[in-house]
Amino acid sequence: MSINEFFHRTKIVYGAGSVLKVGQEAVSLGAKKVLIVTDSFLSETSTMDKIKENLSKEKIEFEVYNEVKSNPRDVDCMKSAKMALDMEANVIIGIGGGSSMDQAKATAILVKNGGTCQDWEGVPLKNGMLPTICIPTTAGTGSEVTFVAVITDTKRKHKMSLWELGTIAAEVAIVDAELLISLPPSLTASTGVDALTHAIEAYTCKIGQPLTDVLALRAIELISKSIVTAVEQGDNIEARENMMLGSMMAGIAFGNADVGAVHAISETIGGWYDTPHGVGNSIFLPYVMEYNLPGNSKRYAEIARCLGVYTKGKTEEEIALEGISKIKELNKKVKIPTLKELEYISPDKFDEIAEASARNMLSENNARAIDKAGYMKVLKAAYENN
Ligand SMILES: [Fe+2]
Repeated sequence: MSINEFFHRTKIVYGAGSVLKVGQEAVSLGAKKVLIVTDSFLSETSTMDKIKENLSKEKIEFEVYNEVKSNPRDVDCMKSAKMALDMEANVIIGIGGGSSMDQAKATAILVKNGGTCQDWEGVPLKNGMLPTICIPTTAGTGSEVTFVAVITDTKRKHKMSLWELGTIAAEVAIVDAELLISLPPSLTASTGVDALTHAIEAYTCKIGQPLTDVLALRAIELISKSIVTAVEQGDNIEARENMMLGSMMAGIAFGNADVGAVHAISETIGGWYDTPHGVGNSIFLPYVMEYNLPGNSKRYAEIARCLGVYTKGKTEEEIALEGISKIKELNKKVKIPTLKELEYISPDKFDEIAEASARNMLSENNARAIDKAGYMKVLKAAYENN
């Protein structure tokens, strides 16, 4: 019998309308001055107005850093950290997709520990981090409940993971599905398949455990039954709630397990070409599943059941293959671009992409051992099957 450890550090304030609790939660963290970390689009929305009003009501001073980019960059984290230090912020609020939440976490780390993001890549923090509130506006990364901030090293063109179990995490996550209502279909689709990828990789990676399995399987059910509705009917609150709950559960699952080869490729192309994280994951998910299937059909059959595959009279392998087909169909239905459609990634780059992905630490816990040759198979299959 194995002994497992399961970490959770974040208070979750969950439900439609919960964004209005932000002032109260900031007070409970002792907030006097707050830096809000977000992107330029969100900083002009009514959601931001609500947050500002709510903080003002509690007499909390705030400033807004609104220059977060997709695939958040080390140089920008230095800017937001300087801003937090200059204003003497004692709480950070990250609102947006994974990029804003990850930059908020990195900011909270740099304020307390100094240095650069590179200094804290894979290294335990000396002084913890400033208390941070994360408010997701996509159902995707699960960053509101994970122990990692993924930041792009702009010089090395490499995605760094600032990761420490139990430490690098938001104190509070405010998880309000109403904030998803205005998320456009294409972002709902790619971030949603990212969340599905977290659940599938957490369930199949080498270091899962019973608690992460339960969360991952339920997340697969919730996301797969709601993603098409959420994409096609953005104001369907039930679908949005399922997506939000599913992505959060998947986040808790992979935060305590791992992700694998899908994320390794997505990080490579995200660092090199700025491919949005969710798009990269969505493209490669079914082809990594095909690669991983030998020796893992039981787990992939269980995933297929959660995806709604009819199982009677079929072998585990048949069930698993139908599950993979369902993911391919899903990608088409929600209009994920194909690898060929990302014209900037041509087949003559596959060799380098495969090599870099094989070097990524995430390859270690992938369901099936994978090296450069394995990644070449995945890349070619993704390219040819489009
Ligand atoms: Fe992800």
